[in-house]
Amino acid sequence: MDVDTGAGRGADRRKPGAADRRGLRAGLAVATVAAITTAAGAFVLGGQAAAAPTTLRAGAEAAGRYFGVAVGQGDLGNGTATNVAGSQFDMVTPENEMKWDTVEPNNGQFNFGPGDAIVNFATSHNERVRGHNLVWHSQLPGWVSSLSGSQVKSAMEAHITGEVSHYKGKIYAWDVVNEPFNEDGSFRQDVFYNAFGGGAQYIGDAIRTAHAADPDAKLYINDYNIEGTGSKSNAMYSLAQTLLAQGVPLSGIGFESHFIVGQIPSSLQANMQRFANLGLDVAITELDDRMPTPASSSNLQQQATDDANVVKACLAIARCPGVTQWNISDADSWVPGTFPGQGAATMFDTNYQPKPAFTAVLNALNGASVPPSSTSSSSQGANTVTVTNPGSQSGTVGTAIAGVQVLASDSASGQTLTYSASGLPAGLSISGGSGLISGTPTTAGTFPVTVTVTDTTGASGTAAFTWTISGGGSSGACHVQYDKTSEWPGGFTANVTVTNTGTNAITGWTTGFTFPGDQKITNAWNATTTQTGQTVAAANAPYNATIAPGANTSFGFQGTYATNDTNPTAFTLNGTPCS
Ligand code: G3I
Repeated sequence: MDVDTGAGRGADRRKPGAADRRGLRAGLAVATVAAITTAAGAFVLGGQAAAAPTTLRAGAEAAGRYFGVAVGQGDLGNGTATNVAGSQFDMVTPENEMKWDTVEPNNGQFNFGPGDAIVNFATSHNERVRGHNLVWHSQLPGWVSSLSGSQVKSAMEAHITGEVSHYKGKIYAWDVVNEPFNEDGSFRQDVFYNAFGGGAQYIGDAIRTAHAADPDAKLYINDYNIEGTGSKSNAMYSLAQTLLAQGVPLSGIGFESHFIVGQIPSSLQANMQRFANLGLDVAITELDDRMPTPASSSNLQQQATDDANVVKACLAIARCPGVTQWNISDADSWVPGTFPGQGAATMFDTNYQPKPAFTAVLNALNGASVPPSSTSSSSQGANTVTVTNPGSQSGTVGTAIAGVQVLASDSASGQTLTYSASGLPAGLSISGGSGLISGTPTTAGTFPVTVTVTDTTGASGTAAFTWTISGGGSSGACHVQYDKTSEWPGGFTANVTVTNTGTNAITGWTTGFTFPGDQKITNAWNATTTQTGQTVAAANAPYNATIAPGANTSFGFQGTYATNDTNPTAFTLNGTPCS
């Protein structure tokens, strides 16, 4: 069921009372972080394993995700707000400061001050930035709409190039195109649509332009009311398929998630997963969950359930990198200004204190790393170390695992536990201090894993389980052709063509090979390469993840060498040797 958030309508409304709210919160005491820690609590298993994270960012990071927040320039002058934003989150989206009307109010005249201030805040708190947004019908200065069609095209490309270049290397992901659809799934016929003669045309052009300016940034289309299945979400799905088939470097879809309490679509996870299955990242980009104000305690409890369910859906999807809450607290939220009588939509109240939703979300994040399981223990000294067996695990070559937390406890107090593992699938490793296993599998197969946990006296316990890594859809039948396309003293370029010689489509691939010489890849195209010593893993880009039976795809790279750039001769695809 679709939820009418009215988020798009917000574009046309003003925020009455916003100044009042900002004034109110500026007077609040700066004592929130300690309160949050207490409210969230911490659990310690057997007294010795690491305490559960007490902040959203730590919980998210332990689960291999980020937890983001929208921050506006007005928030930066409020110490209480920045305390929460700086301690609870590890990703920041500028609420308005990177939108067209702020960044390029007049043709060719760029104003990066407000956006830079948000980036500086994020950087100084060790937080990354989601850029929001480059092309949107709203918050668009009037001069764009008065241009002719061909002028709109060049203005759009110049705007994207100017803004993305300015922030090159500082932005994790861009919402390149924002809210392109009407509720019935038809394209919004805005100035960009009209100038290019179609939705896929301007969107493809915008994404390619952004990619040219910062090839490392992830590039998203972002919209609301696409969280559950329905005509708008189906339209986004077909657009994604069209763009990927055209080779447009689309990386992900942003699901804004402006919800109404008790109305989270039941199809949320399955819907996001179908986009992920196209090889796209899927992020919750603007989470809030509004209710009539003043809030009733039953609605606050329902909000806790809602928000935790949204976070659990993200955690269940390997390609969901994180969740962003829209605004820091109920004092900053856009909701009351757009929906009078509604609010209380975030996890922090108007005094920046954590609400039930905060605790529920933190528990959901922490629960992600605590799978239900049996335990095993053994004793080699006076102490007994008990290791919680995480149970059988699975993964796919080339797809990062969300993170598996092995927990342990000790019969004695005051012991420091050290974790080690044998038999882990290639590409995964365990943190000796925390027992968190993370990484990206590079080889398919079934791996018997033993985790050993040792305390300060030498007493230890173990847990043994099996980790099955599948080959990312490869039938195992493949051919790889490596061609050096140019060579000069100390440098070379190469092209690699991967052919699916099997009968099943390959969805998501990683090509592995070992350089015989001392080559080092310096930059690659149409694949993401990771080099460890002489060993290289090249993973598909989102737009070339699928190789149909009999079809091929190519990627290339440039590299340096000192003495030897002999071509590699043996290749694998998703861990299986190719001819
Ligand atoms: O900057 C002017 C100020 O000069 C003027 O005095 C004041 C008068 O009301 O308005 C100020 O601009 C406001 C702007 O926020 C900056 O505060 C606009 O009126 C107001 O409409 C605008 O609202 C923003 C809204 O996007 C616009 O569509 C909200 O803060 C922002 O939270 C909201 O964010 C959007 C996402 O970008 C896209 N998805 C939906 C989401 C919620 O609507």
